[in-house]
Amino acid sequence: MKIAIAGKGGVGKTTIMALIAKELQRSGKEVLIIDADPSPHMAQTLGFANVEQITPIAEMTTLLAERAGKVEGSPFYNINPQVDDLLADFMVEKDGLKLMVLGAIQTAEGGCACPENTVLKRLLTKLLLSPSQAILLDMEAGVEHLGRGTIAGVDQLLIVVIPSQSSIRTADKVYALAREAGIKKISFVANLVEDDDDKAFLLAGLDKAPVAFFPNSKAIRTSERRGRALEADPHSDAGRAARDLIAHLLPPGKQ
Ligand SMILES: Nc1ncnc2c1ncn2[C@@H]1O[C@H](COP(=O)(O)OP(=O)(O)O)[C@@H](O)[C@H]1O
Ligand SMILES: [Mg+2]
Repeated sequence: MKIAIAGKGGVGKTTIMALIAKELQRSGKEVLIIDADPSPHMAQTLGFANVEQITPIAEMTTLLAERAGKVEGSPFYNINPQVDDLLADFMVEKDGLKLMVLGAIQTAEGGCACPENTVLKRLLTKLLLSPSQAILLDMEAGVEHLGRGTIAGVDQLLIVVIPSQSSIRTADKVYALAREAGIKKISFVANLVEDDDDKAFLLAGLDKAPVAFFPNSKAIRTSERRGRALEADPHSDAGRAARDLIAHLLPPGKQ
């Protein structure tokens, strides 16, 4: 499965993706997270040490150009780092969670031909995944900068939305773009939902109901402030929301 996350800045995309990563891992999946935000933040959220030593793919342009050429003859990467040294070069791992950082994608009129975007496209469209493997793509905001070819590699899109007009407007816009791009499964995920009024506001404003509702969580705020790895107590509302979301992501019988 290849899952991307979108939504207005600051609504909780990285936070929710980190919770999904942990929950999928708990359910037995091998998880690779690709941080495609130009200001990458996933490594901190997951509590990786030596964050500044992680090499963004965008900084390795010479190597990328070579590899991009090499890949022409053999179109498939393998998620297993022993088999493909490209992934090994850029991947960091903590407690079994794998992470790649893309760095800044330069967008240009009519699409981007820069090597890092090509690599992202290839990762998403050519990686052969077994049913036990999952790729999670954390992004800046919407899907518009990715381009059709890249987004076509994603099989599910989550749009995070909080109870505010501007967040709902962005979510609806991303939903329309993602449908146009042909992404098969698109779902809303609600965050910072404190009460029934918040819930009702979201249900009234969105084209369809969110599949999970995350509360405003003291534990999440505390772990962010202390720079600790994000961990949702399974018995908390956030933990329950994460499980609701996983149940929605995984096909029946695969949980
Ligand atoms: N459910 C939540 N409860 C409390 N704080 C949250 C929650 N979701 C996100 N946050 C906090 O809000 C801020 C922005 O979240 P982040 O995941 O970085 O947003 P995005 O990736 O969409 O820009 C972070 O400080 C994060 O800790
Ligand atoms: Mg983010």
